[in-house]
Amino acid sequence: MAGDDLLARRHRVMGNAAPLFYAEPLELVRGQGVWLYDRAGRRYLDAYNNVPCVGHCHPRIVAALAGQAATLNIHTRYLSEPVVEYAERLCATFSDPLDAITFTCTGSEANELALRMARFASGHRGVIVSDYNYHGNSAHLAALATALSNAEPFPAYARALPIPCLYHSDGRAEALADRALAQLAAAIAELKAEGHGVAALLIDTFFANEGIPRLPDGYLARAVQLVHAAGGLVIVDEVQSGFARSGAHLWGYQAHPVQPDIVTLGKPMGNGFPLAGLVTRRELIEAFGGHNMYFNTFGGSPLAARVGQSVLDVIEDEDLQGNALRQGGRLRAGLERLAQRHPLIGDVRGSGLFFAVELVQDRVTRTPATAAARHVVEAMRRDGVLIGKIGKGDHILKIRPPLVFTAEHGKLLLETLDCALSAL
Ligand SMILES: Cc1ncc(COP(=O)(O)O)c(C=O)c1O
Repeated sequence: MAGDDLLARRHRVMGNAAPLFYAEPLELVRGQGVWLYDRAGRRYLDAYNNVPCVGHCHPRIVAALAGQAATLNIHTRYLSEPVVEYAERLCATFSDPLDAITFTCTGSEANELALRMARFASGHRGVIVSDYNYHGNSAHLAALATALSNAEPFPAYARALPIPCLYHSDGRAEALADRALAQLAAAIAELKAEGHGVAALLIDTFFANEGIPRLPDGYLARAVQLVHAAGGLVIVDEVQSGFARSGAHLWGYQAHPVQPDIVTLGKPMGNGFPLAGLVTRRELIEAFGGHNMYFNTFGGSPLAARVGQSVLDVIEDEDLQGNALRQGGRLRAGLERLAQRHPLIGDVRGSGLFFAVELVQDRVTRTPATAAARHVVEAMRRDGVLIGKIGKGDHILKIRPPLVFTAEHGKLLLETLDCALSAL
């Protein structure tokens, strides 16, 4: 079969460890809106990908890309109006004191640079992350990552802490928060005692890899206070949660009363074009830049800026934030209805168009239903709907479609999920 041949060729030329989704990998040839098409012309509802946040191959993004590529496509060390205009517009979406940006091409580069800046600004080396994190593929971030297998030793200058989730706790919210904050305080004390100090807390405030835990009230704000009191900076990774995904806000962290020092951006920023960056205080960028010449050949080129601008245009003009809120609300109600009929669904969490549907073997012990989650994802793919899995037990369904999702798409998703669960 053509697909088998392509797989064999891929293995030969890229090695068989290069990751692919699904037992039977999908060969995609085209995308439009929320739809992806395989070689045979079969269409799949994309309920997984946040990179094409305004939809696959959106005509306005394609036109911006093509128009600028036909006009000027050059590296980043010349003056360029589109670049400055885009930087101004993006920075204006953040509250004071976040007022300046450095562009990169990937979320990994943005997080790596954020760590360097935090170390420079704080004079410390220590880093605190969540205990099921992935923030990128550079040497530092790979060593810190606990959500993907990697052979790098976890660094002595870092601590990885569990994130409290009300669904996984029998105790009171306050006690749960207190316990988690005591762990954070202990980690800070250890890093100080070992001479590392605290340079940064690096988190995704959705904690997407963990499965979007239900955080106890006040936990995040108090965690940020502890890190600031230790002289560290708070880096918020918006690579998954940013660009209106939550429906309620443009940036995921805005759901909490916290003020990050650095916000890192990526994936949906360019709707598939490699565009990322970090937003912070101008004084921090200038102080760091005074001692470290940072330049990025492609990050924030005029081409990237035109694409980025058109992503913001579409989010605004099509009211995709409002759509995420409305469709997210409908989808949540539908998922909760399914939970009433399928005891396998232990919990439905998330906001906007980002859901974690936790599958459990039994609702009392909350034991992860890992095999069931695998079956559901594969069955849905066979039935033409793409979702993913997250969580330490690899048992939490991840639903995170492009933001141009409609009620009709939601209905199809729910029916397909219902079938997959019923067939188990
Ligand atoms: C939360 C988060 N941060 C950073 C990254 C890294 O981004 P990139 O793959 O663009 O380097 C990812 C990628 O999956 C991510 O999910």
